[in-house]
Amino acid sequence: MQLQDILFSQGFGTRRVCAGLIQQGRVSVDRQPVTDAAAEFEAAGLRFAVGGVEWEYHEKAYLLLHKPAGTECSRKPSAYPSIYTLLPPPLRQRPQKAATQGVQAVGRLDQDTTGMLLLTDDGQFIHRMSSPRHHVPKVYEVTAKHAVDERQIGRLLEGVVLDDDPRLVRAAACELAGERLLRLTLTEGKYHQVKRMIAAVGNRVEGLHRSRIGGLALPADLAPGQWRWLSPADLALLEP
Ligand code: URA
Repeated sequence: MQLQDILFSQGFGTRRVCAGLIQQGRVSVDRQPVTDAAAEFEAAGLRFAVGGVEWEYHEKAYLLLHKPAGTECSRKPSAYPSIYTLLPPPLRQRPQKAATQGVQAVGRLDQDTTGMLLLTDDGQFIHRMSSPRHHVPKVYEVTAKHAVDERQIGRLLEGVVLDDDPRLVRAAACELAGERLLRLTLTEGKYHQVKRMIAAVGNRVEGLHRSRIGGLALPADLAPGQWRWLSPADLALLEP
């Protein structure tokens, strides 16, 4: 693949901008500047640097972000900064692929919710991870306003009715982790689902953190606001 096309596919700007970056000597491969925009490289696994910043070619982007509180999952946020501002410019500017708008979040978390958020430009992956038919479990650590009792846990497991659907919505698992702390596993992703389920059993969410999706837990060394690429092993844990 030509170097200018590699840069373009990774979000470094239009083809013309990418060709310009190369011709200006700002791009190196194996620490050697390359000034021929049409130079051919094997894209898979290619490491290169643009303006001194190291990058690795990824045909598709699969990312894990530790969403901090006070950020919105929208590209056009209304009150708080967008989560997309936490990504480096190439990831925000990757060209659009079929059915996606470049890199986008897999589902949304509320402004005040923290924890695991997946982002990708693979539309089929988004579909598989979000579709209720695929039952990907998501684990939430809930801090409730009032002490949680066994009756509330029983109701969450049996199912509660939310205001937009007469069908019962159940927690796949629910355990007490402290007097006001609940670990709740859901396999669907309805709007404000945790907050509405907790309200339906007469309590209230004061803090919400997503700690696990499928078999992948939020790594302890990924601080709020940080992101990283998902490895093939991570992806296998998400989709066993
Ligand atoms: N359920 C909620 O109520 N909010 C979230 O952010 C995620 C799940």
